[in-house]
Amino acid sequence: MIAIQRKYSIERRDFQSAGQVSSSIKKIMKQVGVNPEVIRRVSVASYETEMNIIIHSNGGTMEFSIGSDYIKIIALDRGPGIDDIDLAMKEGYSTATKDVRELGFGAGMGLPNIKRCADDFDIQSEVGKCTRITIGFNL
Ligand SMILES: Nc1ncnc2c1ncn2[C@@H]1O[C@H](COP(=O)(O)OP(=O)(O)OP(=O)(O)O)[C@@H](O)[C@H]1O
Ligand SMILES: [Mg+2]
Repeated sequence: MIAIQRKYSIERRDFQSAGQVSSSIKKIMKQVGVNPEVIRRVSVASYETEMNIIIHSNGGTMEFSIGSDYIKIIALDRGPGIDDIDLAMKEGYSTATKDVRELGFGAGMGLPNIKRCADDFDIQSEVGKCTRITIGFNL
C-alpha cells in the first residue's frame, strides 16, 4: 500500500533551489514518524540524487513514495546519460567542472554514498537519452 506519493521537477543548474526536494522528503518522513536512522539515510541519498540532477543532467524528476514497509525514490532525468556506470560509481570519480567544484561539489562521492545508504539501488542509463536511479529503503 502506498500511503504518500510526491513527484518533484528539478531544473538543470538550478542551484537556487538546491536541497528543496530532499528537504520536502525529510519533512514528510518526520511528519509520518519514520525512524530517525532511516530518515538520515534517505535524506543523504535524496540530497545526492537531487544534486546530481542539478549538476550533471539536463533536468528531470524525482518521485518519492512511502508505503507501510518501504520507501522508494525514482529519479529520472533527460540526459546526457552516463557512458560508463562502473566508473561513475567509483569513489573519487567526478566530471564536475571547476565552477561546480568551487561550490563544494565534485568529490565523486555522491553515487557511492547513495548506494551505501540504500537497501536497494539500481542505476540505468542510456547515453543521449536519460539516467534512471531507483533507490529503496526498508521500514
Ligand atoms: N544524473 C546524472 N547524469 C549524468 N551524469 C551523472 C549523473 N549523476 C552522476 N553522473 C556522473 O557520475 C559522476 C559521479 O557522480 P557522483 O555523484 O559520485 O560524484 P560528483 O557528483 O561528481 O561529486 P559529489 O557527488 O561528491 O559532489 C559525476 O561526476 C558525473 O560524471
Ligand atoms: Mg554527486
